[in-house]
Amino acid sequence: MNPLSDSPFLAACRAEPHEHTPVWFMRQAGRSLPEYRKIRGDGSILDAIKNADLSTEITLQPVHRYNTDAAILYSDIVVPLHALGFGVEIHPGIGPVVETPFSSADDLKRLRPLQPEDDTPYVLETIQQLVKVLNVPLIGFAGAPFTLASYLIEGAPSRTYARTKTLMLEDPALWDSLMDRLVEIVISSLHSQIASGVSAIQLFDSWAGALSPAVYERFVLPHSKKIFSAINALNIPTIHFGVGTGEILELMASAGSSVMGIDWRTPLDIARMRLGPEAILQGNLDPAICFASEEVVANEVADILGRNKSHPGHIFNLGHGVLPETNPEVLEKVVEQVHSYPLNMAERNGS
Ligand code: CP3
Repeated sequence: MNPLSDSPFLAACRAEPHEHTPVWFMRQAGRSLPEYRKIRGDGSILDAIKNADLSTEITLQPVHRYNTDAAILYSDIVVPLHALGFGVEIHPGIGPVVETPFSSADDLKRLRPLQPEDDTPYVLETIQQLVKVLNVPLIGFAGAPFTLASYLIEGAPSRTYARTKTLMLEDPALWDSLMDRLVEIVISSLHSQIASGVSAIQLFDSWAGALSPAVYERFVLPHSKKIFSAINALNIPTIHFGVGTGEILELMASAGSSVMGIDWRTPLDIARMRLGPEAILQGNLDPAICFASEEVVANEVADILGRNKSHPGHIFNLGHGVLPETNPEVLEKVVEQVHSYPLNMAERNGS
């Protein structure tokens, strides 16, 4: 059994009672931390990720500074695609860039199955090092097939996803073949992370909110479902997250994760009205609000906790990643406030 099974984070993932609301932050490791900027070096983030000792240290930094209830592996959603030799790089200040984007059936050949032990051994080594020293659960992750495909097809971050939508609607058979390859790669990557010791996984479908419900349901949902059914069979909590997903929240939830990540646009009480009273939620402070005064931030945090009404199935987080200019002291205070909030079941029952 996982010795951290009763930790607040893993208990909340099962909506079981625990001592305080757990909290971690998407992108908690990274440029907002001076200690990160100091050890990260100037090279590509993909090279930093290949250095297991460095990635271990970077993963631990925010846990030590913020006292978060979970660690998130320092890696990136494009690491498996980079490792397969698809020609994906990450350009600072831009994001993933693909030299020759995916455009035709010929490009399927460039997406062979992932062999994590050979292709991404450094990821597994980092996880193995981390689980020896961490006293909170480690979260592994992958990009969801749609979000990964959007980078492969657009070739760079996009505002419109025009090429991606055109390909899926004009050539559904090619789209489904591409999704099938990505599903296989994602499942292999997640399996290997779990075998190496992560306690939970998050699937980032960051850009799924760009799709209408009908398009999401036809072109994305069946593929994300396959991932959750494969991972749920291993009995570890799964979190499913995207940005701007209010309109497709019920559909995303039907993909089958144990926890739904909610961005800041959907208040937690509204999310539970849509998903049902037992829904287990993660979120959802607007990362931009971290630039406001201490009082404003504290009021927002209190509002989120109030809307959750001490439901045991809540993991506090931002509604998206920490912005690079964020003052770490603000996040330190958020953690203190969340941890000191009473998880009073009477309040829940009485309301
Ligand atoms: O703390 C953490 O959350 C851990 C690590 C993590 C990174 N990327 C490290 C990273 C995680 C979970 C990711 C996931 C990721 N990567 C997503 C999904 C989450 C989300 O933001 O919606 C996406 C869409 C990517 C793709 C990507 N990688 C982008 C858009 C960028 C930003 C580019 C930039 O420089 O502004 C990256 C690079 C990246 N990945 C950085 C970090 C810390 C910043 C670059 C650096 O430090 O060199």
